[in-house]
Formats: sequence, structure tokens, C-alpha cells
Amino acid sequence: MPERKWLVAGNWKMNGLRADGIGLARAIAARATGALRCDLLVCPPATLLAAVADAIAGSCVMLGGQDCHPEPSGAFTGDISAEMLRDAGCSHVILGHSERRHGHGESDSVVRSKVAAAWRAGLIAILCVGETRAEREAGRALDTVASQLVGSLPDGADARRLIVAYEPVWAIGTGLTATMADIADMHAAIRSRIPRGTRILYGGSVNPGNAGDILALAEVDGVLVGGASLKADDFWRIAEAGR
Ligand code: PGA
Repeated sequence: MPERKWLVAGNWKMNGLRADGIGLARAIAARATGALRCDLLVCPPATLLAAVADAIAGSCVMLGGQDCHPEPSGAFTGDISAEMLRDAGCSHVILGHSERRHGHGESDSVVRSKVAAAWRAGLIAILCVGETRAEREAGRALDTVASQLVGSLPDGADARRLIVAYEPVWAIGTGLTATMADIADMHAAIRSRIPRGTRILYGGSVNPGNAGDILALAEVDGVLVGGASLKADDFWRIAEAGR
């Protein structure tokens, strides 16, 4: 069996002006030279995609978008298509993030159409799922995630173009993380519902202090990192935790 390779992905969200983004991308790319036991991905805001693509050119760091529109082009002011992300140098796109589902009212069916758009454009879709605090407290965490998977995954999913990120909404940006047992249980439940070999990432307040334990879980194939991905040192320490 080939050695398992984690994916450490940074979701920069709406952070960074040109100088910040280029500096961060260069700092990460400069270190990503040796043989790493993880793949590295950065997902900057759309305004920085071109500059970050330049900054990481020639390194093993990959580039991703944070969202896309279902259509390839058209009268959709403010939106960006999957084809545009691909054209800007992206290989991946984050879809269905809780800040889109809850902040922008994106339903499962909208997310599903975006995943299909990502595949149409040749991108790997990082499909985010996760329960709210109320859903977990009501004992509905598993049901919530299972129904998000059913509703957000188009037909034809396969491990080469899909990654699932389990991100409990209450753990995002709060400093709270799920227990190792909860992460393992949820990842196992997700794994039983998606194509064999699909990577499953954990996200939600991942930092250099907890990344080692999380990545050591057999069910975890990587991490999706928000806040801690904005500091090159922290992002790098997380990546090293997966060595
Ligand atoms: P966080 O964000 O690491 O800041 O909690 C994770 C995410 O939203 O992907």
C-alpha cells in the first residue's frame, strides 16, 4: 500500500492585501522544497490568485479558490466561475464552506451545482460539511452531515476529483476543536458514504498545537486550516506535524 500523504490546505478567507498574500505565499513556497509527507494547498481570496500563482510557481504548493459560480460565464455580477479559477492556475476549489452555507444561505442543491461546475472545469472540489452546535447538542450531528453529503454530492463522484472536509461549524474560528473520538467517528461515518479512497480533511481551529494529534488519527487525510494558515510559521508547523 502506498504511503499515506496528507493534504494541508490553507483557507485564507477574506484576508490579505497584495503584499501580505505574496509574502505569505513566498514564505510557504520557500520552505516547501524537500520531500514532504503532505501536499500543500493555499486558497487565497480571488484578488490574489494571480499574484499567489506567480509566487508559488515552481514549488509543490498548489492553488485553490474559495468558491465558484455554477455557470461557466454570464451575467453574474461579482461571481467567479470554476473555469476562471482553473484559468488563474487553481487545481482545487473549496465549496459549501459553512460561511457560504450559513452566511450566504447556500443550500445543498446550490452546493451540488457548484461541485458539478468544479468537475466540469477540471478542478478538485473540496466539499465542506459540518453540523452546528445546536445540531450536535441535539444528537443530530451525524444525520446533518449525512444529509449534506446526499444533498451536495452530484452523481459521478470519484476520489480523484473529490475531497470532503468535515468542519463542525462551532469549531470554526472559535478555538474549539472536536474531540479526537468525535473526529474519528464522523470521518468513519463520512467514509462509508463516499467513494473509496476519497480524502477526508478535518477543519475547525486547527493549529500547530493540535495538528499532530488530529493528523495521527487513521481516518484523517489532512486538515483545512483557516486562521493559522495566515502565518507562514504556523502553517508550516502544521505541515510538519504531518511529516
Ligand atoms: P479556522 O477555520 O481554522 O480559523 O477555524 C477553518 C475553516 O473555516 O476552514
